[in-house]
Amino acid sequence: MARVLVTRHLPDGGLDPLVEAGHTLVRRDQDVAFTAAELAAAAGEVEGIVCLLTDRIDRAVLESGAAGRLRVVGNAAVGYDNVDLLAAAELGIAVCNTPGVLDETTADLAFLLVLAATRLASEAERDLRAGRWGGWGFMDHLARDVHGGVLGLVGYGRIARQVARRAEGFGMEVLHCTRTPTGFPGHVGSLDELLATADVVSLHVPLTEATHHLIGADQLATMKPTAVVVNTSRGPVIDEEALCDALEAGTIFAAGLDVFDGEPAINPRLLAAPRTVLLPHIGSATTQTRTRMARLAAQGVADVLEGRTPPNLVGG
Ligand code: DGY
Repeated sequence: MARVLVTRHLPDGGLDPLVEAGHTLVRRDQDVAFTAAELAAAAGEVEGIVCLLTDRIDRAVLESGAAGRLRVVGNAAVGYDNVDLLAAAELGIAVCNTPGVLDETTADLAFLLVLAATRLASEAERDLRAGRWGGWGFMDHLARDVHGGVLGLVGYGRIARQVARRAEGFGMEVLHCTRTPTGFPGHVGSLDELLATADVVSLHVPLTEATHHLIGADQLATMKPTAVVVNTSRGPVIDEEALCDALEAGTIFAAGLDVFDGEPAINPRLLAAPRTVLLPHIGSATTQTRTRMARLAAQGVADVLEGRTPPNLVGG
């Protein structure tokens, strides 16, 4: 039986696939992040790793693992930009993620941001809590309608499609933009066309070199001054400085963000920017979904260790 490093605490039952298979879990009593050096050292002592998106599984960690007996990394997230897939492939280390189990939960949160940002809910609540509400005012807290608007989805994977279902229930028209045609109704050929048309733009692309700062100053300038941008994908997909410029200048209406460039540090300009809803990367944060994510990552690791090919293999 194998030794599996579990980098952080996970919900009860999340590691059952490994426990039931008789593998030994290597864990710390305290739920604190490994430093890069600690992670590299620990990787050299195990056959498998279950990690989080906050663990940087870079070449140094993978090389240290390969010098030992490391065979598989199970990233308990659907995104895997924290893992050096190229190095993993070169070193013959399998990598798995958690597709399919967090779509609805993340779509709920994305739609929460659509609603909250478009209706300026955070700003209104901040006024109330700060004692700035002088009573019902006909001209106060005037936001934008969600119903009747056009939702533009950038990317059209599983989560985006669940966001589309929610938007249709709210009476929105839904368009989507992808690099290659999807064959589904609502496909728009160019990002600029989508940005120019949408009342709400919601981002659903993985973070890659091609999507880094996909939404920058030019793209924000293409959006309507009444438009809202929502990001539940990865922070660096938006150029945050350009977003702050646009919010401060009023050239877009509002933003709802669950992810940030360099999180957990937050660009101070974003904290001060008007008409923003900022959440601490909680898209998949429900007990049920986090349990499913942990189990799927653990199952992928168990599969590889026991000679099976997991369905959630993304590389290696
Ligand atoms: C992921 O899984 O990639 C999300 O960002 C966290 O659930």
